[in-house]
Amino acid sequence: MATHPIVRMGAPILKRPALAVEDPTGPEVAALIADMLESMEAAGGVGLAAPQIGVGLRVVIFEVPEGRSSDGVVIPVTPLINPLIEPLDEETEEAYESCLSVPGLAGMVPRWRRIGYRGFTPEGRLIEREAAGFHARVLQHECDHLDGILYPMRMTDMSTFGFVEELRRPPPGTEAPKEEVEAE
Ligand code: NI
Repeated sequence: MATHPIVRMGAPILKRPALAVEDPTGPEVAALIADMLESMEAAGGVGLAAPQIGVGLRVVIFEVPEGRSSDGVVIPVTPLINPLIEPLDEETEEAYESCLSVPGLAGMVPRWRRIGYRGFTPEGRLIEREAAGFHARVLQHECDHLDGILYPMRMTDMSTFGFVEELRRPPPGTEAPKEEVEAE
């Protein structure tokens, strides 16, 4: 296992579509996931896609920690190989996102509220689930990385884009901001 530096926005690998993994149970995939877990833990995120450590393969890891869950569903750190997502209806919702590849910044991003997703574990088991809220959001964010999309490219109101430290600073004469800034 090795901790890798997180590739930042502007690097070509983050703009390229990642390639499908041919054998999810291959030992090199297990090694990649181990490196991703270690790198995400070192960087303090709740999700990571393989291109963020410089590997152009369709592999993500994510978690839904207690306190982030919007519907009581807590998910431990889970690897997903060749993930596919689809919206379950037309409903979208907005929330702040941040990204380890866009350090220090956050912005409001519209996402599908409810999705279905599927993908393989490194043991070759198919995971098929439905997700809503933060759980759906983190999947959409990580899967976007596999298509060369970073969250600022999904933003519709650039006036909400800013440095986390500034966004957390309450305007003079007001209480602390209502929005929770999510770290991804
Ligand atoms: Ni990200």
